[in-house]
Amino acid sequence: MAREVIRIGVQVKTSDPVETVTDLLAVGLFADGPDPELIRELDKRLGGAIGRVRKLGDFTGKTGTTALLYGSGTGPRRILLVGLGERKKANVETVRTAVTTASSKAVEVKARTAAIAIHYDFPFVREVHAGQIAQMLTEAAYFGAYRWDEYLSKDDNGRPDKITVTILTPGLKARAYGQGVEIGTILGEAQNYARTIMNRPANEVSPEALAGEARKLARQYRNLSCTVLDDKQLAAKKFGGILAVGQGASHRPRLIVLRYRPRKTGAPTVGLVGKAITFDSGGISIKPSEGMQDMKFDKSGGVAVLATMRAIASLKPDVNVVGIIPSAENMPGGGSYRPGDIVTTYSGKTVEIQNTDAEGRMLLCDAIHYATTLGCQAIVDAATLTGACVVALGEWTAGVMGSNEGLVSQLRAAATTTGEKIWELPCGEEYLELMKSKIADLKNTGGRWGGACSAAAFLREFAGKTPWAHLDIAGVGCVDGGKKYSSPGSIGFGVRLLSRFVCDYQPVKAENS
Ligand code: BES
Ligand code: MN
Ligand code: ZN
Repeated sequence: MAREVIRIGVQVKTSDPVETVTDLLAVGLFADGPDPELIRELDKRLGGAIGRVRKLGDFTGKTGTTALLYGSGTGPRRILLVGLGERKKANVETVRTAVTTASSKAVEVKARTAAIAIHYDFPFVREVHAGQIAQMLTEAAYFGAYRWDEYLSKDDNGRPDKITVTILTPGLKARAYGQGVEIGTILGEAQNYARTIMNRPANEVSPEALAGEARKLARQYRNLSCTVLDDKQLAAKKFGGILAVGQGASHRPRLIVLRYRPRKTGAPTVGLVGKAITFDSGGISIKPSEGMQDMKFDKSGGVAVLATMRAIASLKPDVNVVGIIPSAENMPGGGSYRPGDIVTTYSGKTVEIQNTDAEGRMLLCDAIHYATTLGCQAIVDAATLTGACVVALGEWTAGVMGSNEGLVSQLRAAATTTGEKIWELPCGEEYLELMKSKIADLKNTGGRWGGACSAAAFLREFAGKTPWAHLDIAGVGCVDGGKKYSSPGSIGFGVRLLSRFVCDYQPVKAENS
């Protein structure tokens, strides 16, 4: 690897935006007036430049649009106007996107320092706790400034090595802001860490390499411990699903287990399970070659769990967390599992293989059953599981299914706060019927219709009585985010969501559904 990804730092200051010495000051403008005092002050300072840009119609304040102006003498060297759209439609998401845009632009113009005043005079700002606002602004700054360019060997590829983003605040709330920035930094860094590993190709990230990353985290954080089962240990313990998926590849499968232990005794235990297929060629049921390169992202669920464990180690919630990451490469070869094979999974249930490309569930069923044996009171899995989920919900929203309404609603609440969108889909009895085989306990495909739901119904069978929920992140995890977001590659979906879920976790009662 030729270089490191960009280093990002975020801090808080109470200085006056107009007087702040910085490479770029970002301010927000609504499409409809009146302009707040800050904008009027800036306009005066710039000799009426903001008014002129508006008058020419080059900048209208429409959402997603920006205009760059240049300062003179002291104060900000550049002023970035970021459109916030209509005032009455503005919400937290408006600010989040605007800050992402601003920090991305800052990197684009090679700024070493940037100051954010987009949230000034924002209507909701007075209603939300200052710490939460600062956290959201920090996370957005991290998200927007991120670039994945570690494999470009050229030294100067057009960005600074480090950018420092200053969040400006009009006095008073500086302390709450400081705490928010601290938490936002932990989450922003964890999310970008996830993006880097998700983006790395399969020749760099094998199951073994992923296990190495987990071990590295356990060395860095005293409250994390890591155990890894290799293929021989998996065979001895009869993890038939994981082994079947991995048996065609020369990179051997692994089961990675990361544990976080809080100081408090008697805390509940939550299991996070993440699918980590380092490359999904489809195996013997091989995928079409078009777009196959995106299947390096098929490890995104597992990497989201890995990065969540890292965030949790710093956030230190009073919850025991077990991160379980089954990892394999799904490849065609002389040793591959085949359509027609009957696999005995870790739980003892047998599965008839109809399609080797439905490999995620084969790996997850072992990991979910394993989680139930570790005393988890609740299990949440994240997986780039089905193309059907992408068809149903598109590239913006993940599917959520579960056996326990309380658990699903806690995930929904977490998602609302972090701005990661999830939508519930069913996974009940009718769907399980689709997964029944005549020659084994289950089969691994359920036909064309409702594919995301039947896949979830399959997984549900392996959670037993333990409350379980599943996030199908195929749409948000396996796509190259370049067009919609700040930079090409993964968006690190799930890291903030799962971290938030764990920190806010309230014990759920097992339902007998
Ligand atoms: N990793 C894929 C799911 C996927 C597809 C993610 C497209 C992102 C974009 C998964 O392993 C898979 O291949 N699923 C099959 C299942 C089918 C054979 C029952 C699918 O969805 O086509
Ligand atoms: Mn597949
Ligand atoms: Zn897959």
